[in-house]
Amino acid sequence: MSSKGKPHLNLVIIGHVDHGKSTMTGHLLYVCGTISDREIEKFEKEAELIGRGSFKFAWVLDKLKEERERGVTIDLAFYKFETKKYYFTIIDAPGHRDFVKNMITGTSQADAAILVISAGTGEFEAGISTTGQTREHALLAKTLGVSQLIVAVNKMDLADYKEERYNEISEEMGRNLKLFGFDISKINFVPVSGMLGDNLSEKSDKMSWYKGPTLLEALDTFIVPDKPTDKPLRLPIQDVYTITGIGTVPVGRVESGILKPKEEVIFQPTGKKAAVMSIEMHHEEIPEAIPGDNIGFSCKGLSKQDVRRGDVVGHSKKPPTIAKEIVATVQVIRHSSVIAVGYTPVVHCGTAQVAIRFAKLNMKQSKKGKVDNPDFLKNGDAAEVVLIPTRDMVIEQYSEFPALGRFAVRDMGQTVAVGIVKKVTPK
Ligand code: GTP
Ligand code: MG
Repeated sequence: MSSKGKPHLNLVIIGHVDHGKSTMTGHLLYVCGTISDREIEKFEKEAELIGRGSFKFAWVLDKLKEERERGVTIDLAFYKFETKKYYFTIIDAPGHRDFVKNMITGTSQADAAILVISAGTGEFEAGISTTGQTREHALLAKTLGVSQLIVAVNKMDLADYKEERYNEISEEMGRNLKLFGFDISKINFVPVSGMLGDNLSEKSDKMSWYKGPTLLEALDTFIVPDKPTDKPLRLPIQDVYTITGIGTVPVGRVESGILKPKEEVIFQPTGKKAAVMSIEMHHEEIPEAIPGDNIGFSCKGLSKQDVRRGDVVGHSKKPPTIAKEIVATVQVIRHSSVIAVGYTPVVHCGTAQVAIRFAKLNMKQSKKGKVDNPDFLKNGDAAEVVLIPTRDMVIEQYSEFPALGRFAVRDMGQTVAVGIVKKVTPK
């Protein structure tokens, strides 16, 4: 809950590079009053100076010098804004394929997503191609537990606001989303222009053929996911800061359980223990953090070197599990050849990224049927495998801790497979 009593949701903005995520997000923050006219004017002037006037809204989010000069998002940006019903933390993710790992970190903290797809000529086609990120991001979102989605069919101004283009994109994307396991009857496909503001907060008169909700109205159709407060505490760490006068402040999102000041916590896999001094969300001190809260918490007896992205915090009495061996079901999506025993790609689980070895292939299910102890796996196969991490990491059984029991397998800059943990043998 925010101080004003509205329920809170974390929203991630995903989609192919340059499809207009930062611009749309910046514009949305502007219409919701998070960003003032004066700030936008300032960004516009600065952007024009380097010949990037159309980027004024993107600059609200793209703060790094390199991001502004290149016109691409690299790291995550967090902002808050309010709709009628909710208080949102918005996470603007990068679309460029080199930065998918940052996108994964952002998505692992989200309750819901807006998938931004450009309707511009050739842009939709580039995003949805096998090397594009439109489908990869949608699938990663589903794998990482984000099942509430809005599709923003963006840059409608470039498509002359034509209904045919909107239909073409919605239908093709709808088919893909269904394949990935989304319930598309619950997904709004909203035609917008993030740059010009059509259908963001007010119905656009240029698209009178569209009868659905505006983007803001669609956001209020989301629901607050169940909060597993009765489970043990699990809090994957996203970053660590040193703040003068306060000390070391790890940052992350609570996935399960409750965290309160004065409690003793343990950071796994290192086993480092510390006492929690205070907890903050959006620069306000809070008496306890519950699932879904994106928090920073100061700790006594902790230095910055003791913690890193990927660690998971729990209470000392019920510490997060360090895995010796994992039995998982994986779905192979895109691998250039075949996966055999010994294959060692990177697994992304929570905020951790660790190389994991495929130690055994127990069974595979393909179009041709079921095979025990197969020699290899290829695209389209679902399989039960045994995985062994190459270094200590926290990973949990999916049925106990869904957020830490699902993972993405990445190799050579691509998402190769996604998986769910059936069983963990603790170290
Ligand atoms: P990455 O974060 O790098 O993946 O890009 P992004 O998806 O955040 O895109 P960004 O907002 O940086 O916009 C990319 C380009 O598209 C810029 O030149 C924008 O001005 C332009 N653009 C964004 N939205 C619109 C739109 O609604 N209409 C038109 N015509 N151009 C847009
Ligand atoms: Mg961006």
